[in-house]
Amino acid sequence: MRRIFHISDVHFGPPHLPRVSDGVIEHVERHRPDVVVLSGDLTQRAKPHQFQEARRFVDRIPVPTLVVPGNHDVPLFRFWERIFVPFGAYRKNFAEELEPTYRDEELLIVGINTAFNWTWKDGRITPGRLLEVAEILEETPESVFKVVVAHHHMIPPPNFGTQRVLTNAYEAIDLFSTCGVDLILSGHLHQAYIGNSEEFYPKGRPPVVILHSGTTTSSRGRMGERARNTCNWIEAGPESMTVSHLRWHPELERFAEHSRHLYPRQERVPYTLEGI
Ligand SMILES: [Fe+2]
Ligand SMILES: [Fe+2]
Repeated sequence: MRRIFHISDVHFGPPHLPRVSDGVIEHVERHRPDVVVLSGDLTQRAKPHQFQEARRFVDRIPVPTLVVPGNHDVPLFRFWERIFVPFGAYRKNFAEELEPTYRDEELLIVGINTAFNWTWKDGRITPGRLLEVAEILEETPESVFKVVVAHHHMIPPPNFGTQRVLTNAYEAIDLFSTCGVDLILSGHLHQAYIGNSEEFYPKGRPPVVILHSGTTTSSRGRMGERARNTCNWIEAGPESMTVSHLRWHPELERFAEHSRHLYPRQERVPYTLEGI
């Protein structure tokens, strides 16, 4: 069994809440997950000192971590940087690798960078990266629990109107459901949500569970999570997966479980066209 602590949208800069980020470290120290995943928007404005603060925060986490960038990690107003070196500040002050992979004998986590410099908030997966991810997934044994992490969402949660999903989301889901991905982790919307791929991309294949985290350590919560801070705790075993949404309780000064969801890990049936 593997335990994953999923945090997102920590937004170092003016909206960051230091007491809550201390709470993240305390939660990790108390519960010792196997890995902490941070699904993007490390900063508010991609400034070098904000990335350095994010680096110091991640360095305090006493277990392995996997981090991907978000749209706020590309400079919005520094136009030359935005056009020519959109991830220059990220690479110089936080990490060289934008799309890291975590792997052990029971768990694979693949990071995908969905932020880019042409728009200010939408995301995309490039066809080239999808091919690379396909190769990684295909060479991984079926028994390994497979997770993909991308900052932008691939399904539209309720109450967000016409919010667009990332470009190539359909192709990505097609690939992930074929290659046996168990779980997709995202952030960006600043509201927690759990759903599955089959609700939006019906294909008759085993569905992929899709899990969003709200903003874990900033004051930018939206919709039902305005002024709230949330994250997810995942326990992935060979037979099933349990996902808990956690919320920050200011009066207790700690994260506590808000809801729990259980998913059987189905035996994968070979995909056929029959019945579609
Ligand atoms: Fe964000
Ligand atoms: Fe975002």
